Amino acid sequence: MDKSQTVSQFMQQGRDRLDPSLTNPNWLVLRERSRIFRRWSAQLKSAELKVLDVGGRIQPYRPLIADRTRQYVALDLRSTLLVDVMARAEYLPFSEDQFDLVICTQMLEYVAEPSLVMAEIFRVLKPGGNLWLSVPSAAPDPGEELWRFLPSALRALLAAFRRVDILPEGGSVAGLFRTMNVCFEIFMRYPSTKLMYRYSLCPLINGMGALLEKASGGRNQQFAVNYSVLAQK
Ligand SMILES: C[S@@+](CC[C@H](N)C(=O)[O-])C[C@H]1O[C@@H](n2cnc3c(N)ncnc32)[C@H](O)[C@@H]1O
Repeated sequence: MDKSQTVSQFMQQGRDRLDPSLTNPNWLVLRERSRIFRRWSAQLKSAELKVLDVGGRIQPYRPLIADRTRQYVALDLRSTLLVDVMARAEYLPFSEDQFDLVICTQMLEYVAEPSLVMAEIFRVLKPGGNLWLSVPSAAPDPGEELWRFLPSALRALLAAFRRVDILPEGGSVAGLFRTMNVCFEIFMRYPSTKLMYRYSLCPLINGMGALLEKASGGRNQQFAVNYSVLAQK
């Protein structure tokens, strides 16, 4: 097991994704995802949820449903202090119709055969159970990811589900400004310049992006850089 990080460090990483700071280059998409997931969590009917988090090493969205969860199972390839089950998402070690909710955020892009993961998630969800998915559609290549996803591909992957809602995590304007920020961060080669950028240009770009996105009404979504998906079995 990787014990290089403490539980509180993982939880802090989760909080940084759930409630990102303006100094985070991904602020525009993270803030929109949190808004979307907050709305979805308010719509959940049961107070006794059995939840599976696939790729659940960090669990940013667990606090949104904490008071309605009977059991929270975190599954990941990597064994860390927050992971309950070490396994591949392509072969979930659970019998069918087990979970009320499956959360799978920013994980599908790492898997060679995303359709296998979707079929497994469908299998272990109870009839009527929900999947909350979040995937990138445009982002720099950190070297270990395999895919980016567009709405039509998501619809094909989730064809077995009876209801699929695909929401952009911000429109094209937010996508443009977020892309600027993640590119600037790549260009900052030294820790000192990265730090300077984080506390100067980065919040400026985020703020500007948020203002212009609001002014544009988020109408154009051709360059959405991330999508949230609610799928119901
Ligand atoms: C970018 S992290 C996302 C963590 C968290 N879900 C979030 O939204 O912040 C991707 C996670 O997926 C896990 N992962 C990648 N491929 C996997 C696979 N085939 N099966 C299970 N977990 C996998 C990685 O180990 C990593 O913890």
